[in-house]
Amino acid sequence: MRADDTPLIRLEDYRPSDWLIDTVDLDINLHPQKTQVRALLGLRPNPAGRLGAPLILDGDELSLSGLRLDGLLIDESAYSATAQALTLHAPPQRRFTLTIDTQVDPSANTKLMGLYRSSRVYCTQCEADGFRRISYFLDRPDVMSIYSVRLEAAKLEAPVLLSNGNLVAAGEMAGGERHFAVWHDPHPKPAYLFALVGGALDHVRQDYVTADGRKVELAVHVEPGKAGRAGWAMDCLVRCMRWDERVFGRNYDLDVFNVVAVSDFNMGAMENKGLNIFNDKYVLADPQTATDGDYASIEAIIAHEYFHNWTGNRITCRDWFQLCLKEGLTVFRDQEFSADERSRPVKRIADVRTLRSTQFSEDAGPLAHPVRPRAYKEINNFYTPTVYEKGAEVIRMLKLLVGDDAFRAGMDLYFDRCDGTAATIEEFLACFAETSGKDLTQFARWYEQAGTPTIVASGRYDAAARTYTLDLAQTTAPTPGQPDKQPVVLPVALGLVGKAGDLPLVTGSAAYAGDGVIVLDQPSLSVAFSDVDEPPIPSLLRGFSAPARLELDLADADLLRLFSADSDSFNRWQALQSVASRALVSAGRSPGGHNALIATAGELAEALAGFLRVQAPADPAFAAQVLRLPVPADIAREIGRDVDPDAIHAAHRSLAAEIGLRLRPHLMELRERLGTSAAYRPDAASAGRRALRNEALGLIALADPEAGARLAEAQFAAADNLTDRLAALAAMTLVPGDAREALIARFAKTYAAEPLVLDKWLMAQALIAEAGTLDRVKGLMQHPAFSLGNPNRVRALIGGFAANLTQFNRPDGEGYAFVADMVVALDRTNPQVASRLLGSFKSWRMLEPARKALAEQKLAMVAQTPGLSRDVADIAERALA
Ligand code: PHE
Ligand code: ZN
Repeated sequence: MRADDTPLIRLEDYRPSDWLIDTVDLDINLHPQKTQVRALLGLRPNPAGRLGAPLILDGDELSLSGLRLDGLLIDESAYSATAQALTLHAPPQRRFTLTIDTQVDPSANTKLMGLYRSSRVYCTQCEADGFRRISYFLDRPDVMSIYSVRLEAAKLEAPVLLSNGNLVAAGEMAGGERHFAVWHDPHPKPAYLFALVGGALDHVRQDYVTADGRKVELAVHVEPGKAGRAGWAMDCLVRCMRWDERVFGRNYDLDVFNVVAVSDFNMGAMENKGLNIFNDKYVLADPQTATDGDYASIEAIIAHEYFHNWTGNRITCRDWFQLCLKEGLTVFRDQEFSADERSRPVKRIADVRTLRSTQFSEDAGPLAHPVRPRAYKEINNFYTPTVYEKGAEVIRMLKLLVGDDAFRAGMDLYFDRCDGTAATIEEFLACFAETSGKDLTQFARWYEQAGTPTIVASGRYDAAARTYTLDLAQTTAPTPGQPDKQPVVLPVALGLVGKAGDLPLVTGSAAYAGDGVIVLDQPSLSVAFSDVDEPPIPSLLRGFSAPARLELDLADADLLRLFSADSDSFNRWQALQSVASRALVSAGRSPGGHNALIATAGELAEALAGFLRVQAPADPAFAAQVLRLPVPADIAREIGRDVDPDAIHAAHRSLAAEIGLRLRPHLMELRERLGTSAAYRPDAASAGRRALRNEALGLIALADPEAGARLAEAQFAAADNLTDRLAALAAMTLVPGDAREALIARFAKTYAAEPLVLDKWLMAQALIAEAGTLDRVKGLMQHPAFSLGNPNRVRALIGGFAANLTQFNRPDGEGYAFVADMVVALDRTNPQVASRLLGSFKSWRMLEPARKALAEQKLAMVAQTPGLSRDVADIAERALA
């Protein structure tokens, strides 16, 4: 399918469904190749729809094997059935039932949408529109039904049979070979939240009593033999359930809650009602096979999917344009949970790093789109950092603008008013307008307007008048389809930092909202602060109070003061990042500015030396973030045009190496101090110590490769956990030579039976910034650990390579050629994985002319490939537009 032949679906064209489906009774006979599905639908005309309209049910690669209306066969002229649709030309204008028989082949389903088998486990993925690959249906989120599901399977093959809701019956079939289970979900839901699982699975179980007294049986199901790795996920689940009761007043609403880990999954996880299905990467954890980062991701994603039970399931989306209604809000909720469980500033820094590297880059390129897109060809391509991460930032700003109390009251009102419905952003915002008394009309622009705003700030101190005047202006660069931008509402949290800390903020300005927040909602404005006794240093956008770029020309000396004296932890971190970033941008723009870079390294090292000695040991997790420079991709985006990845990489390396060289004694001493003999524990404090030690190791390896290699080898040998071993491997990848190759081989041998660990091994190699990496990656495709059929393997090796700034962007274009070929190859089996990989080209327009031309050629090659999926065709078309 060519993208230009695909219809554009528009938000403004939304119409309610002409028909409703009140009940769905599914009877599913599981078989590896021939699964029989019988769906009994209880239909009625929608009073809000068009009277007398035909009934058009969606299908995707389906074939109809039987159809009855109110239990009776119907004339063939009364309907038509294709793979994509089942149409009843003149359905009765009353309640009636349809019994629809289809047969599907789960083993042949490589798209991993609908019903498929993953390592012999039957599972489903129905968001956004996978249910139509199981049965013909009104596959849209505003059609909500009560489901009863009977599953039948061979006992040996699928001893465990799960679906949504509560188990109501189970038993054996005559002969004893097959058995069945019947599940009932009392909560109406759209088809995208349907799920089933069947297979041989082990589990851990735990009883839970909700704050409002409901007994719930919690279970985490995993591949046989892996129950020992399910404990952490269960622990996270219990903690996030309590948190949602305490912080949002939300209780769980079924008698069971099941989590299942599968090894083939397109995304991270899925919030199916009462039956969350996970990519096993985000469930399985023990110290030998999961890193601290994995433990943290599992905590966040378990919480995310659980929180969807209210923000997504009890209240769902009217249509897919409202995707951020559930996703942005639920990301915000999981971020808050992690912040409460761990360190709030460190969590904020980590989230902002992710936002900048994924979302800012999306917003700066041809795939930019609003948090609520206005049109799409393929909805799968809109599960993006913009919808998720920027969507969460919008909620965070809303909370800051209306205040904690009105925010909580607004959420309560939303849960109250919209429970059981398929809602819109407008309905959501109306709740906060009501509880805060604020007009949120302009704020709503965050949902409509794409692009990252830039705040340009400058300040003037008048000693005689004892005033400090802050001038703020905002601009947003054009994005595809939106040439002219309007001002958005930017809450700018700030402080004026004096010699002895924050100065009092005294102003009569209407733009000052109190509590240290200026609301910049005009193209520009000035705020005058009075009674300012000394020239202050402005600390702006504290806590990253708005998802914007800040241009504020502070001298390095002032930034270094903020680093040591700002009361806002985020801005302390940001201040040092800003010093590094400015130097890297200028060195990356015009290579040769080496001396300036060395001077900056000196400044940074001096600031860090004291910090490492005095403060770092008290908060290692924060210190690890401080030691980590901005990533090269961030520098590329700041430069924005004619980007030369090699120059940026070289600048980054030399800055890090210089800092490492100067700090080496401090880093060694710190590593000694932080070295523990205690057994591994995954808690945030222990993880922070490891993070700092390993950050130090990386800097040492860059400064002194030989010493780094020796340290890495020793650390690998001594480590009792994967975090330290992987960090050793990562440090070693910075140092070419035999020792590196030996450690790579040793790692593979140690973890030969652990696919998820080998993914990290594949990725570490794919990220090596050397010309030999492309051949290495091609070679690794033949390694037994790799498979093109498994999304995690593909993301690790091919996705890792596509994220390798210098090697994906090789000057000879071979990096683009390789990734483009992989996209075309993958598209034949799994379009979603292919189109995500093609998204790696999203920043091609900012490259220098030679690379840009090569990247464009390869994109065009993909676009012209016959028989492309809609997913890939859509990305190729938009990337080239
Ligand atoms: N809704 C899932 C989540 O955010 C993501 C997802 C989308 C998973 C589409 C699968 C398919 O939790
Ligand atoms: Zn989600």
